[in-house]
Amino acid sequence: MENRSLTKITNIAWSMIENCLHQGSVALDGTMGNGNDTVFLREKIGNAGKIYSFDIQDLAVENTRKKLDERNMLSNVELIKDGHENLDKYIKEEIDGAMYNLGFLPKGDKSITTLGKNTVIAFEKTLNLLKKGGLMVISIYYGHEKGLEEKNMVLDYVQNLDSKKYHVIKMEFFNQKNNPPILVAIEKK
Ligand SMILES: C[S@@+](CC[C@H](N)C(=O)[O-])C[C@H]1O[C@@H](n2cnc3c(N)ncnc32)[C@H](O)[C@@H]1O
Repeated sequence: MENRSLTKITNIAWSMIENCLHQGSVALDGTMGNGNDTVFLREKIGNAGKIYSFDIQDLAVENTRKKLDERNMLSNVELIKDGHENLDKYIKEEIDGAMYNLGFLPKGDKSITTLGKNTVIAFEKTLNLLKKGGLMVISIYYGHEKGLEEKNMVLDYVQNLDSKKYHVIKMEFFNQKNNPPILVAIEKK
């Protein structure tokens, strides 16, 4: 594992998710955004696996496509312009890992955000597709208008997952102010 400090939640999310990915794995990026997580997942799975990546904004798809293209990584990645709540229309196989990064597109329109009602549907569908031993990592940025509502819906959902079927961990930056992001990791037993 690379040495990634605790300064960014992404570092922690990546350090966790990479443990369940290998060359040839299938993974999901539920919130493509600027493509950083999609590129990371694609690096981990190599040329043999598959990444499904979702966003509702053209700008996110464009930015991600560009990032992948610059790295010669477009193969094996499906960039899907649709809501993650519809992921079962596109994914018909089991997945090894999934990432969600909730909030708005950095450097984009801050009024377009993930919404609790959609993310909870997406989580349910993701967990159905997740292999036993697979991991889903969720970064919750909630310092926006609909953020608190989404955070509460998400935490309520994950807290009530059956402990016989899932391990659920919640991490937060305990000594930071101004709505620091929260990380949730769910492992399917
Ligand atoms: C915090 S950003 C994601 C950052 C991204 N993971 C990255 O590496 O740059 C959240 C993204 O979720 C997208 N989003 C909002 N609602 C969505 C939905 N229903 N389905 C998929 N993506 C959605 C937004 O358009 C935004 O680009």
